[in-house]
Amino acid sequence: MISKYVFGEPFETEAIVVDIEETKGTLPYFKQEAGAFVLDLAEEDIVYGLGEQVRGINKRGWQYVSWCYDNPHHHEDTRSLYGAHNFVIVSGSTTFGVFFDYPGKLTWDIGYTKRSLMTVTPEKMDLKVYIITGENEKDIVKQFRGVIGKSYLPPLWAFGYGQSRWGYKNEADIREVAQNYEENKIPLDSIYMDIDYMEDYKDFTVNQERFPDFKGLAQELQGKGVHLVPIIDAGVKIADGYDVYEEGVKEGYFCKNADGKDFVGAVWPGKVHFPDFLNPEARAWFGKKYEQLTSQGIDGFWNDMNEPAIFYTEDRLAETLEKVSTLTSGNMGINEYFAFTGMVAGLNGNEGDYDKFYHNVDGRMVNHRDVHNLYGMNMTRSANEALSRIVPDKRTLFFSRASYIGAHRYGGIWQGDNKSWWSHILMSMSQLPGLNMAGFLYTGPDMGGFGCDTTEDLMIRWLQYSLFTPLFRNHSCDGTRMQELYRFSTKAIMGEMIKIRYALIPYLYSEFLKARENDEMMFRPLAFDYDDDDTRQVDDQLLLGGEVMIAPIYKQNAKGRYVYLPEEMMCVRMRGWNDFECATFEKGHHYINADLHEMFFFIRKGCAIPLVKPVMSTKDIDYSTTQLLGYEASYVLYKDDGISLNNDGKLEMYVLE
Ligand code: GLC
Repeated sequence: MISKYVFGEPFETEAIVVDIEETKGTLPYFKQEAGAFVLDLAEEDIVYGLGEQVRGINKRGWQYVSWCYDNPHHHEDTRSLYGAHNFVIVSGSTTFGVFFDYPGKLTWDIGYTKRSLMTVTPEKMDLKVYIITGENEKDIVKQFRGVIGKSYLPPLWAFGYGQSRWGYKNEADIREVAQNYEENKIPLDSIYMDIDYMEDYKDFTVNQERFPDFKGLAQELQGKGVHLVPIIDAGVKIADGYDVYEEGVKEGYFCKNADGKDFVGAVWPGKVHFPDFLNPEARAWFGKKYEQLTSQGIDGFWNDMNEPAIFYTEDRLAETLEKVSTLTSGNMGINEYFAFTGMVAGLNGNEGDYDKFYHNVDGRMVNHRDVHNLYGMNMTRSANEALSRIVPDKRTLFFSRASYIGAHRYGGIWQGDNKSWWSHILMSMSQLPGLNMAGFLYTGPDMGGFGCDTTEDLMIRWLQYSLFTPLFRNHSCDGTRMQELYRFSTKAIMGEMIKIRYALIPYLYSEFLKARENDEMMFRPLAFDYDDDDTRQVDDQLLLGGEVMIAPIYKQNAKGRYVYLPEEMMCVRMRGWNDFECATFEKGHHYINADLHEMFFFIRKGCAIPLVKPVMSTKDIDYSTTQLLGYEASYVLYKDDGISLNNDGKLEMYVLE
């Protein structure tokens, strides 16, 4: 059952798409104290959810702030990340779900100030709170997902391997990537184009000198089954003669200052205006611009910098430079030195800058601060809604960096700028259940790590984990060690891992379709299916779909790991898609060995999964090569044509024996 409680005058976020009548009376479970909602936590209570936030699957023990934030240096100390997903399930002494539908800043103190309390504090008491009760955690998630709308459905090719790098500068760079994958016989479905494909970082432009035949390049690669996926940034460069800028100014489609002038921030292109994605007309106008690229053969996009990220504003820069000049005039003492570095670092993503601009919502000027977490969601909505009209017969790939619950209907998300750190393999895995609870099924991390230099063993172990996530993209930052797989001495091992992925795609896609269709989670904590005390403690293994459990290795030099089996399971240890052995293990704790070239996962008791012969691109997947792997059992395969925009009525289900 879902009950809705209304406080003050909430902003309509459109996270919930079903009419739910308001329940009058006091909010159950929580006490209301000084602008906050306070819940007593029993010692055994676990708090699941919060989407993309850092730390473990159980969110207890830290303070989180829902405030979409560009933080490429995040670690376990971080409070805000790119997405803001205010849904949790408290599980233990009592079990219920709660969604705080508040698009401004919201603080979650989950046993941080006091272990036995969870305190949720919205900046203003204008919000809706939904309480969801049900039979168990899975039932609560299903009910919640039922009211936030179906998750976005990507094309099948988006389950293939993608190679990305901030730094591909011209047609030759892109061709070189495609050619190397082909020569090394490593499957590939997409190459991502970061900001350097544009002319001066202007959205929807292509640099003509470096990409003289963009359309030809897109066509040539599609012929090989490789899709080009360009980036689109939120900020629109201020530049005379640039259509997007000029039209946006003329039509009043950019966010405004209090005095009605267009707000100016600075990002990659230098000074920019931000499209007012909360204004439906501006959203439709910006969305239509994607056609400038789809008309050249592009069928996928990643929307970036849409928290929105602001490197600096003119006012704050001027103020900072003035203060800095007073500090630097004499001999800088330690206090001045820290004030100086703090001020300069504080230019980026400064919270004060988000108070300075406004959105036009049905003619009403709404301060950005109060609706901050909706910006990225509405950017992807703009693209999705427009392209559903422009290209109505096929799916376009979209994923975004910033998001709010509701954004899962318009696209996927990637897990932001991580690092080539072992701990970030585990972090990514811990984010998956919370994201699935909030409807984000199409997701995954930058494999190998975005920032810092990757290593061969990290890359291999990362692939072994990521080959299960729907988004399967290797991406890295300009200036870091190049991490295209063919560059490593262990490229043969890496290639085998990619082939295992391709052998598993029918299974992964089928489980994705089931999760989407039935409002379920593709990745779940073990305790959502098995109810015993040991299972509730497991924080580094996940159930995948109905049949699989993953337990990746995420430690440097580890040649195996401990795994807890909540019941008998079959361990599949693979060196290649057709080079593996299976062994059955009893319920309990086990140490499973796996050298660097080996990955393993588990098939649940009495289950089997399909495996197909790997191909070089998803376009060639041949379902007739399917074999079943696991126990003597059948498997229900879900499948569609992988490309039609709407798969309603096109979903096929087969029982594989
Ligand atoms: C941001 C994105 C990253 C991209 C970079 C340059 O940091 O998160 O993926 O490579 O911008 O566009």
